[in-house]
Amino acid sequence: MLAETIPRYEFPATSLHELALLSDSNQMLVPSLASTPEVAVAVTEYCNGLCAPLPRRVLDHQNYTAANVSNPNMMISTLEAKTLSWIARDRKAKRILEIGCFSGFSALVWAECVPSSGGEVISLEIDKEMIAMANKAIREQDMQDMITVIPGPAAETLQTLEGEFDLIFLDADKAGYITYFETILARKLLAPNGVILADNTLYSGLVCIRNEHNPARHETTSVAVSDYLIAFNKHVAEDSRVDQIILPLFDGLSMIRLIS
Ligand SMILES: C[S@@+](CC[C@H](N)C(=O)[O-])C[C@H]1O[C@@H](n2cnc3c(N)ncnc32)[C@H](O)[C@@H]1O
Repeated sequence: MLAETIPRYEFPATSLHELALLSDSNQMLVPSLASTPEVAVAVTEYCNGLCAPLPRRVLDHQNYTAANVSNPNMMISTLEAKTLSWIARDRKAKRILEIGCFSGFSALVWAECVPSSGGEVISLEIDKEMIAMANKAIREQDMQDMITVIPGPAAETLQTLEGEFDLIFLDADKAGYITYFETILARKLLAPNGVILADNTLYSGLVCIRNEHNPARHETTSVAVSDYLIAFNKHVAEDSRVDQIILPLFDGLSMIRLIS
């Protein structure tokens, strides 16, 4: 997508504080709590401390991954894991599909949310090393009856899946999000009351602000990837079969449901 098509907001404000005030007065939602990195860290730690903990064995695998892979920030954060877990439990999800398994951290999180009898997590992954790492953790945690990691390109695997899922988590290659979304709907993989959760839909804010106020503008790859998210967010917004909310949480979390 061409840079010219990116919406530009001309904020006259000179500081984040002024920006937050201006935005509030315009009834806009801004993550004003994260006014500095220090505030963002303190707020996140505060929330983590007061939210229900993740099971020790799941955290152990998160720590193991962090110590043994070169790009641990591919995993959802602890607070995001708790948030997704809360949503899954609140919705009483029984069948969860995840696109993008990585080392299996989020799959283990999902497995804690579905019923031990009749619950199922299917996670799609293309990277053989990651599949091996995830399967090892799943075996060690005796979760193999609950979690199935399906190897291969997700776009192909999606064509083979059957039945409805209560929750579908998009967290693989951003270039694939539109195809995944379309396949999910075309193949009726989303239960009528189900929800698609799409991660990273704001991509460091690059979907909407790429000027000198956004330090991420220097990361060429991120800018290129965020173009896919711009296209995805617009694609979903224009689809009358669904409605979405894009939450300015973490790196952007979209919740998408079918309109009955
Ligand atoms: C952000 S990571 C997933 C992190 C994981 N959900 C977690 O929080 O622990 C994205 C994963 O998607 C995988 N991936 C990328 N393209 C894919 C594709 N076309 N099909 C399947 N998996 C893919 C990558 O190999 C990577 O492991």
